[in-house]
Amino acid sequence: MAGSRASPGCVASRVAGHHLGSPKTGGGPVVPQRTVGVALSGTGPGPYGARMDSARVLVVADSHLSARTPEAHEHWDAVLELVASDPPDLVVHAGDMSTDGALRAGDLADARARLDEVTVPLLALPGNHDVGDGAAWSDGAAEAVVTAATIDRFRAAVGPDRFSTLVGTWRLLGLDAQLMGSGEAAEDEQWGWLADEVSRVPSGAPVALVLHKPLVPPGGEVDTPRRYVPITARQRLLDAVAHLDLRIVVSGHVHQALEHERDGIRHVWAPSCWGVLPDRLQRAVGAKRVGAVALALHDDGRVDVRQVRLPGVGDTVIGEDVTSPYPDPAAPLDA
Ligand SMILES: [Fe+2]
Ligand SMILES: [Fe+2]
Repeated sequence: MAGSRASPGCVASRVAGHHLGSPKTGGGPVVPQRTVGVALSGTGPGPYGARMDSARVLVVADSHLSARTPEAHEHWDAVLELVASDPPDLVVHAGDMSTDGALRAGDLADARARLDEVTVPLLALPGNHDVGDGAAWSDGAAEAVVTAATIDRFRAAVGPDRFSTLVGTWRLLGLDAQLMGSGEAAEDEQWGWLADEVSRVPSGAPVALVLHKPLVPPGGEVDTPRRYVPITARQRLLDAVAHLDLRIVVSGHVHQALEHERDGIRHVWAPSCWGVLPDRLQRAVGAKRVGAVALALHDDGRVDVRQVRLPGVGDTVIGEDVTSPYPDPAAPLDA
């Protein structure tokens, strides 16, 4: 997993985070790991722009990898190609890395193996297809419910389900959105961890947050816990970071690209790198496109956001252009 690339004349450490951990085999909660920083990956005219005073982060989401999704693997090849063509300092996977990892442990292993092919530091978060969703709003039999067991399986197969790292001058926080509002003991544990992490963020440091579900709905959209972080947990999260300079929240889950602003915070939806849902199953709120999000986190706190394409990959429609791996075509992949 480890990778670093030093630019001539610029060897400042940009990322002080962790890679995916070694798979664990049982035991208690996995403590998020920290490893040494890596060098700035340079500048260029690629997806992140040509600036020296920024850290470059590629956010991918909803790869839905498994042996049953060959096109998802082809698109992951394109992600690897994009990374290799202009390496960012960090790749973040915002969840739903697997087709059905919450139900089939082998899917998580398949996804982890492909994530391991990324040649720069990578951090990953779980989505509903990796660990399940809250019991009160999941589809029950058709979808896994998040439990201590599904979280443990994710941590064993992939690594920690949250992270806190430095990227240049920025604090980047990644949270397990699937736990939020679940009532699981691991949710309490995460709230405690978050309080500890935010207490150490220096005053005035710019902060970016990544999680699988969008934190807040855009104006006019119905607020459902299947699509968004549940309201009570959302408010608890916003209260926990209220004293920080939170500037941007990046999420996956909806398989649409979107950006909106709420109370001075930019909310960016990363599209799926696998496919979009047909209109008969999901209304378009943002752009139904396949790709990723390239972030340039400037040292002065500004951030540039670019929705980027994957080389050679079009806007694949799941169930139309490719066979859906999900048994019930009426069951939405994401609300
Ligand atoms: Fe997804
Ligand atoms: Fe999802």
